[in-house]
Amino acid sequence: MKISRTQITPEKFYKNRRKFIKQLGLVSSAFYLAPTLFSTANASSKLTEYKYITTYNNYYEFGTGKNHPVERSQNFITDPWSITIDGEVEKKITLSMDDIKKTFPVEERIYRLRCVEGWSMVIPWLGFPLNKLLKKANPTSKAKFVKFESILDPEQMIGQRYPILDWPYKEGLRIDEAMHPLTIMVTGLYGKELPNQNGSPIRLMVPWKYGFKSAKAIVRISFVEKMPTSSWMKSSPREYGFYSNVNPNVDHPRWSQATERVIGEGIMSPRIPTLMFNGYEEEVSHLYKDMDLRKYY
Ligand code: MTE
Repeated sequence: MKISRTQITPEKFYKNRRKFIKQLGLVSSAFYLAPTLFSTANASSKLTEYKYITTYNNYYEFGTGKNHPVERSQNFITDPWSITIDGEVEKKITLSMDDIKKTFPVEERIYRLRCVEGWSMVIPWLGFPLNKLLKKANPTSKAKFVKFESILDPEQMIGQRYPILDWPYKEGLRIDEAMHPLTIMVTGLYGKELPNQNGSPIRLMVPWKYGFKSAKAIVRISFVEKMPTSSWMKSSPREYGFYSNVNPNVDHPRWSQATERVIGEGIMSPRIPTLMFNGYEEEVSHLYKDMDLRKYY
């Protein structure tokens, strides 16, 4: 499934990315592991330009328009920040962003973000496997699911003053999905700090699921026994299931999921076929082997 770097890196300024990242001083060289291409053999695997990744966003805490997050999140305060890991754990822990940055070396992962609305982008994320963070908390044998909560701060987030979603934004994964090596916590993109509109200072990224599973601005992770109800399941259970695996064969009740529009390619460019599990079938299909994916959407 891995493709060569030359196929996927068009951006001139980005060619020398190692040097570039070092110059920025964001990631010390000791902590900067070799970039790994976890991208897929999709028809179009060209990196999406930075300007599209950072101006066309979904982040309902700042409004429902694609331009609202970039326009309204620039003063959002992301420092100090910490994440609490609680629930079915031997010992509840709270880690500051400084602890997180010191403890978990970031690496680059090029993943396609496939939004449930039918568009996609190919993004060079900087992050680390979620399983490294989760293992710090020693979950008990009762833990079957992992629940994620984004920040609740209606003073700073205008969207939270309206009942658009069940605030704070909540998401969930089965524990084996959360522990899968492809599931990462993201702290940057294109070698830079994560912009506020993309979920700074830390967000989830699960590349084989629709984009809404990848919650932004996470403050709490809880191990739980029962399947958590996400904000989207609560708002429209018929449209948004718990699993939300990218699946071209199962339509959204209001539209097909068979194809996608690649952002930045121009309105006239043809839609490309959506791949099963967003191209990660080989890596993740075993997680769902005896499940009816129409029922468990
Ligand atoms: N996380 C929070 N907290 N709030 C949101 O509204 N939107 C989701 C997801 N994470 C959302 C969120 C959706 S629908 C998508 S497609 C992705 O974020 C978009 O991520 P991006 O803006 O970095 O492309």
